[in-house]
Amino acid sequence: MEHLTGKVAFITGGASGIGLGMARAFLDEGMKVALADWSDEHIAQARERLAGSNAVHFVKTDVAERESLRSAAEETLEVFGRIHVLCNNAGVNGGGTAAGESFDEWDRVIAINLGGVINGTKIIAPIIRRQGEGGHIVNTSSMAGVVPLPGLAAYSTAKYAVRGFSESLRMQLAKEGIGVSCLFPGATRTAIVPLPEDRPGTMDEANAPQFLKDLWDAMRGAIDPYDTGRAVVAAIRENRFYIFTNREFLDEVKQRHREIEDAFPDDEPTPGRVKFETMRADMVRDLMAPGNRPVVPRSSAELDRGSASPAGGQ
Ligand SMILES: NC(=O)c1ccc[n+]([C@@H]2O[C@H](COP(=O)([O-])OP(=O)(O)OC[C@H]3O[C@@H](n4cnc5c(N)ncnc54)[C@H](O)[C@@H]3O)[C@@H](O)[C@H]2O)c1
Repeated sequence: MEHLTGKVAFITGGASGIGLGMARAFLDEGMKVALADWSDEHIAQARERLAGSNAVHFVKTDVAERESLRSAAEETLEVFGRIHVLCNNAGVNGGGTAAGESFDEWDRVIAINLGGVINGTKIIAPIIRRQGEGGHIVNTSSMAGVVPLPGLAAYSTAKYAVRGFSESLRMQLAKEGIGVSCLFPGATRTAIVPLPEDRPGTMDEANAPQFLKDLWDAMRGAIDPYDTGRAVVAAIRENRFYIFTNREFLDEVKQRHREIEDAFPDDEPTPGRVKFETMRADMVRDLMAPGNRPVVPRSSAELDRGSASPAGGQ
């Protein structure tokens, strides 16, 4: 989507942090924004911060509740008449470990961080499609959806899944002029990791465990969410799927990709296996061209001539 002025964005978790950063960046482009959030406190703070703008609408919603999200979308249509950009961004921290016994926190984190993205897409993508004016969907994953975050298994599980869901969505919508991006923030200075200065009197920094002191210290130097919002604007304009903001993760990502490539066996694939992969790769190429700018799989002819590798150039 090259022309953003006048377009309408619906942002979940829009009243704080990265969602609010996107909202500010969109407003700078002359867009209108519906900020959907479940926190009265965050909505009140964001209302104050964006006071004076008549291009903002706040709507209270819980992304884990489909009917609540549906009515938030309907309210946005009543106010702005359209939705062109959907940002499925609401998320919470935590979720517990993979082998821990409790399901409570696990289910809640999956319901919001993954369920919220699925609900938002299934409720609002049909609206964008019906309008027939094109659009863009941005789903917020995390660096924890690329490299694991120790101890936060539910969070990582949801964020890896958001990436898979978004890859599939991108293929489905590419030919309809609706782009899809997946956002992978690293440490970003937001309310998801509150610092002692955010809630005076509630955290005793002097007597906190060293791990927390180190974490707070690191988060004080984290990325400004407005910069993340600007990166999202650029990706929407370029119709780019991957949005990375934190270069400090690059070495580890490269190591991880090397580990995956090194794990492949050396054997020669049988013609049947090559045929399966050729069919799959051809389908992906057909869906994607001339839509997004993905890794375009090699053509069947190239695959016949060379290896069975699905990966190709740009
Ligand atoms: N801040 C980071 O370092 C970081 C890193 C990677 C990914 N992320 C992701 O970025 C997204 C935004 O988080 P943030 O860092 O801006 O945190 P934040 O807490 O500042 O903002 C999240 C917003 O989502 C809202 N929210 C939470 N659950 C909701 C629900 N069920 N329904 C509606 N609204 C809900 C909260 O009220 C809050 O306003 C999340 O998906 C998070 O996982 C953040």
